[in-house]
Amino acid sequence: MSRRPGNHARRFGDNGGLFSSSKSRPSPILSLGLIVLGGALLFIAYSYRNSGGLGNNIDTTSRVEGDYSCTAEVHRALPILKKAYGDSMHKILHVGPDTCSVVSKLLKEEETVAWGVEPYDIEDADSSCRALVHKGIVRVADIKFPLPYRPKSFSLVIISDALDYLSPRYLNKTLPDLARVSADGLVVFTGYPGHQRAKVSDVSKFGRAAKLRSATWWVRYFVQTNLEENETAIKKFEQAATKRSFVPNCQIFHLKSFQ
Ligand SMILES: *[C@@H]1O[C@H](CO)[C@@H](O)[C@H](O)[C@H]1NC(C)=O
Ligand SMILES: *[C@@H]1O[C@H](CO)[C@@H](O)[C@H](O)[C@H]1NC(C)=O
Repeated sequence: MSRRPGNHARRFGDNGGLFSSSKSRPSPILSLGLIVLGGALLFIAYSYRNSGGLGNNIDTTSRVEGDYSCTAEVHRALPILKKAYGDSMHKILHVGPDTCSVVSKLLKEEETVAWGVEPYDIEDADSSCRALVHKGIVRVADIKFPLPYRPKSFSLVIISDALDYLSPRYLNKTLPDLARVSADGLVVFTGYPGHQRAKVSDVSKFGRAAKLRSATWWVRYFVQTNLEENETAIKKFEQAATKRSFVPNCQIFHLKSFQ
């Protein structure tokens, strides 16, 4: 398995060329130039900030009417998951559409390594996503087949949206396989039956329309397939969610890994 991308050494030292002349006495013109340059940089930083450039736009863009994505919900839930799973958040596999966004976000966290499985085509992926695929951090793989990872390869596995597109026949294979590759838990994000998704594009991209199942359906299904819910994780997650007034737009289930 490939490692996370190394931090590219920041090369602040490379500016030496500009400043090295200050060993000799700086000329007034150079000083003036630096002041003007500094002012310009401040102005650019300021405008960037106000345009929302530093913020994370995921929340707003995903709330397109009638097309709610649970991968966007994963972004919102990450701080809560961190409270619920603590140290188990250090080696994560995310499975689902737009996994690049989740993996990039996780890789920015300290002491977290992350990988992703993108179950659908990535024709419209941006260059940073392509880079993750190129490095082997994100794989494009059909989750109807066994995942190419050893048992317990990850501390936590998070799956969003993708299960809504699988029939029970494939769920029977995919869900236990996700539990197999995790060591400390499997978190499932699925849509609420009331929340309709865009349909036509769904079918062409995902192979079939989303089938949004109720919580009772899922719980019955977990029991049938011997997947146990993790009461500790459920309780901790709910406590952290209440504290931060986090109201999920998707159903979130916490399953145990196979022991
Ligand atoms: C899925 O697995 C369960 C439990 O083993 C079984 O009862 C059910 O018939 C299976 N469903 C399909 C569609 O294969
Ligand atoms: C249950 O969840 C806790 C986190 O709240 C985790 O540490 C533990 O490993 C999980 N248990 C299993 C068997 O997955």
